[in-house]
Amino acid sequence: MSKAFEHLFSPLQIGNVIVPNRVLITAHTTNFSIDGIPSERDAAYYEARARGGAGLIVIGALRVHPTTLNAPLNIKGFDPAVVPAYRRIADGIHKHGGVVFGQLLHMGRQITPAYSRLPIWAPSPIACPINKVVPHEMTHADIREIVEMFALSARHAQEGGMDGVEIHGAHGYLIQQFMSPWSNHRTDEYGGSFDNRMRFALEVLHAVRDAVGDDFVVGYRLSAEEFTEGGLDLEQSIAIARTLEATGQVDFLSISQSNYNPHSFQTMIPDMYFGRAPYTYLAATIKDSTDGVPVFTVARILEPQQAEDILASGAADMVGMTRAHIADPELVVKARDGRLDEIRLCIGCNQGCAGRIHLQQPMTCLQNPAVGFEASPSESQVESPKRVMVIGGGPAGMEAAIVAARRGHDVALYERADQLGGQINTLVLVPERAEFGEVVRWRVHELARLGVPVHLNTDVTPELVQSKAPDVVILATGATPAKHLLPGLDDSRLFTAEAALRNPEQIGETVLLIDSSRHYKGAATAEFLAQHGKAVYVMTKEDNIGAEIPKINFVGVMERFAKYRIRMIPRATVTRVDGTTVHYTQGGFDERLEGIDSVVMAAPARANHALHAALIDLVPEVHLVGDCLAPRSALEAIWEGHQVGWRI
Ligand SMILES: Cc1cc2nc3c(=O)[nH]c(=O)nc-3n(C[C@H](O)[C@H](O)[C@H](O)COP(=O)(O)O)c2cc1C
Ligand code: SF4
Repeated sequence: MSKAFEHLFSPLQIGNVIVPNRVLITAHTTNFSIDGIPSERDAAYYEARARGGAGLIVIGALRVHPTTLNAPLNIKGFDPAVVPAYRRIADGIHKHGGVVFGQLLHMGRQITPAYSRLPIWAPSPIACPINKVVPHEMTHADIREIVEMFALSARHAQEGGMDGVEIHGAHGYLIQQFMSPWSNHRTDEYGGSFDNRMRFALEVLHAVRDAVGDDFVVGYRLSAEEFTEGGLDLEQSIAIARTLEATGQVDFLSISQSNYNPHSFQTMIPDMYFGRAPYTYLAATIKDSTDGVPVFTVARILEPQQAEDILASGAADMVGMTRAHIADPELVVKARDGRLDEIRLCIGCNQGCAGRIHLQQPMTCLQNPAVGFEASPSESQVESPKRVMVIGGGPAGMEAAIVAARRGHDVALYERADQLGGQINTLVLVPERAEFGEVVRWRVHELARLGVPVHLNTDVTPELVQSKAPDVVILATGATPAKHLLPGLDDSRLFTAEAALRNPEQIGETVLLIDSSRHYKGAATAEFLAQHGKAVYVMTKEDNIGAEIPKINFVGVMERFAKYRIRMIPRATVTRVDGTTVHYTQGGFDERLEGIDSVVMAAPARANHALHAALIDLVPEVHLVGDCLAPRSALEAIWEGHQVGWRI
């Protein structure tokens, strides 16, 4: 075992189970279940992470009641039909020496009734600021029913072979709604004083403990900060943690943060703008303030050394590395073997994981498109290797080359520029988005490890293709940044977003950015220009920009716009430009903007597929992937590259 990670690889006793190391995958909804029952995809997904060495895995969001179902993809923890499916998951994790707990959840008001068509239940009839539906104020009978359903759902986890349960008392869901004075305005014995607000949580805890007995692990997930005026703060959370520990019925405390107040919501699954491990101080404070109950920490802990340092500092007993494991299921094994450069780091984009979950879609990962397909691995070896020529070294081309090479094909990669990475090399010019560089770093490293020849500075022609006589060509030639002329505007004052990022000094002091990208291209360029001292207006034809930015990240975009005083002009279209005056229509009215020095366009790029027509008669098999097929985000480009590498 590597001595470098001696804390990480030391076992921990939690209740009556021993976890083999300190690496935890906290609860996360996968949306792989079918009609409320975890699927084979779930079982294979979790088993892959146990095989990769994670010591403890918490299975996310086992719903305890029909009033907390958002979609048929949610796991019905209250339905006995889940037990055999739990058994499959637990067996898969145990086979590799891992420990598994199930998380019990009621979301309270933080849900919409669109799917369940049932009234939303909450302590008080106050709408959630994000979902905006006024809930039914729970009666005492409702409270008793939910307490019993937590207990029933815990028994299902136990019958399904899990080693414990975690009561979800965090993220602003039902239990936290009772605990927080921000969401609990009751005047009966469940509201008002600290003891009254704790009553529901303690009733749930006692009922769960009674249901599963003393020999089964029962833990509690707690948001130690709501970051909300009038809500729970760290000081109150210390009191909550001490109260829970004093019951003698809690085997661990898993410390998180947030509720569904928009500012707070973004902290639940912090994106790359938050940096690394922004909330470890919360767990450290709870650990310091309690009397030995194991305390877990989480949030943007990505690398083994970072985790080791947190453990060595005594800030926590276990380190949650959740998205780190979505991106690389073998993180722990690679750390143990000293293969640190091979770890594919999560970049904190939230595009594949949280972004898709909030759209009620199955989870995926920008870095790891194999998520959810662990049962049918894309790396199965081919019987008759083909000669594969990949043209274009952006994310789609690199991914296709890697997957094809792993499967045994004879692959070569060609790139026109002097480096791999394509458009990623431009977007990392925004300092807060530099973690996107990991998309390129890992793939460059992997191509070298696999021995794939990479030909840079090579403009591929049909003649070159003919001379190489490949069996398969994968075209990944990307897209060219586009701008559309505006009546009256001199081309010297019109820039693409990409040009603005590369040469901000060429942009005038007052800028109009016209955003039709629907993604970060517009938002991130606007922020970047504002950081360079420009006065920035952002115009869109839609109600708002960023329709495709993950909901959980978008709060941060709007907060940064406010910070940089970026002004939005929604539902607007430019009609003409007259000197430095931009004329536009908005809601049927003619408006104008004075003093605009430059116009920047964040528009969808134009697909580069010119080679395709020339190659179809030359090569037996030609595939287009990524932006040259249709310009979209890196999430789709990498997914498509992976798919084609897998299929050929
Ligand atoms: C796709 C996804 C789904 C999640 N679902 C849950 C959930 O069901 N229950 C929960 O307590 N936390 C959930 N989380 C939050 C994680 O447990 C964790 O706190 C968060 O991802 C931050 O940790 P990380 O930076 O290690 O990923 C989810 C996170 C992601 C990315
Ligand atoms: S989608 Fe992005 S944030 Fe989510 S796990 Fe993958 S790399 Fe990390």
